[in-house]
Amino acid sequence: MKKLVVDLGDRSYPIFIKQGLLTDATEWSSYINLKDKAVIITNDTVEKWYLEKLTNTLKSLGLTVYSLVLPDGEKYKTLESFNKIMTFLLEKSCGRDTTLFALGGGVIGDLTGFAAASYQRGVNFVQVPTTLLSQVDSSVGGKTGVNHPLGKNMIGAFYQPKAVIIDLDCLKTLPARELAAGMGEVIKYGIIWSKEFFEYLEQHTAEIWKLDFDVLGQVIHTCCAIKAEVVHQDEREGGKRAILNLGHTFGHAIETFMGYGVWLHGEGVGAGMVMASKLALLRNKISSDEFARIIKLIELNKLPTKAPSNMTLADFEKIMLHDKKVKAGKVRFIIPDFLGMASLYDDVTEAEIAEAIKA
Ligand code: NAD
Ligand code: GLY
Repeated sequence: MKKLVVDLGDRSYPIFIKQGLLTDATEWSSYINLKDKAVIITNDTVEKWYLEKLTNTLKSLGLTVYSLVLPDGEKYKTLESFNKIMTFLLEKSCGRDTTLFALGGGVIGDLTGFAAASYQRGVNFVQVPTTLLSQVDSSVGGKTGVNHPLGKNMIGAFYQPKAVIIDLDCLKTLPARELAAGMGEVIKYGIIWSKEFFEYLEQHTAEIWKLDFDVLGQVIHTCCAIKAEVVHQDEREGGKRAILNLGHTFGHAIETFMGYGVWLHGEGVGAGMVMASKLALLRNKISSDEFARIIKLIELNKLPTKAPSNMTLADFEKIMLHDKKVKAGKVRFIIPDFLGMASLYDDVTEAEIAEAIKA
């Protein structure tokens, strides 16, 4: 088993990565102060595959286990679902000793984390991510929240889990399109943090897509280690943490323009990373050979590398001005400084954006 720690002083927590962790708690249960009740929050897709397994495992630890199954989808990451969780916890007379388990992808993880941050001013929660995207990104780092009709992820809290339990077996049932979306975030770590990891991905894409669990375990471990280090340095995104948003400004604009759910988040990030890398090429921070390698790796992982053909510069600009990363009226972009490092820039010109979109 691979284990690592997100080092945040008295809020530090372990991440466990292995096949079979949903059905076997021997290696992780002692690290979590489990008492009294466990409440599993999941959705009606993940329920079918994994709810019984986790329920039985938690029951075998002597816990009283309840589960709440929400409808599947980003459109249910709302205050209404949050309220459903509150009502459920109150109906089950859950006290402060209750632990919430987020069993699902990033939608369930973000929602459950926010519920845990709020219920009785904070109860313990454990992330059990079941998509590649949530295993390498959203389950680590404590960003929790819900969407508002006027903006995505606009209501939430920084609230860290007590543990992250990554059962690699969950990837066996994940649709290929969702695996690709997760690979968008995986490739991101190579570009912003480690050329060596980028090269590893270039050499191991075929094994990843064959679900070679030795390779996937290594990939997920590397991504979590990078994210843990970034979060350790800058938990509340005062600066450094923003690099995790490589490609996201362009990507969010595409997601918004197309209507949520038409392009997956990771697909927007794929095309967005090409555009951000084009900015780096224009500024001579990466070579044209490196730019071509970035596009090739994104393509190899079945992700789009271009913006939708009907989306204009004006469409991008209009939406990007509402991005959370806008400061003092300036759209800020994460741009690779070289392959393996990136920084935040607020001086990108309209001409550069136009060139990047054409990429
Ligand atoms: P998701 O949670 O919607 O899951 C994608 C789909 O896969 C859903 O239909 C889900 O039911 C299904 N699914 C989940 N696990 C499965 C499995 N093992 N087998 C079969 N189907 C499975 O989407 P996601 O990509 O995991 O997460 C996206 C969300 O994460 C967005 O809301 C985004 O804002 C958020 N996010 C948060 C952070 C953060 O730091 N908190 C970071 C990145 C993304
Ligand atoms: N996914 C971006 C972050 O966690 O900061």
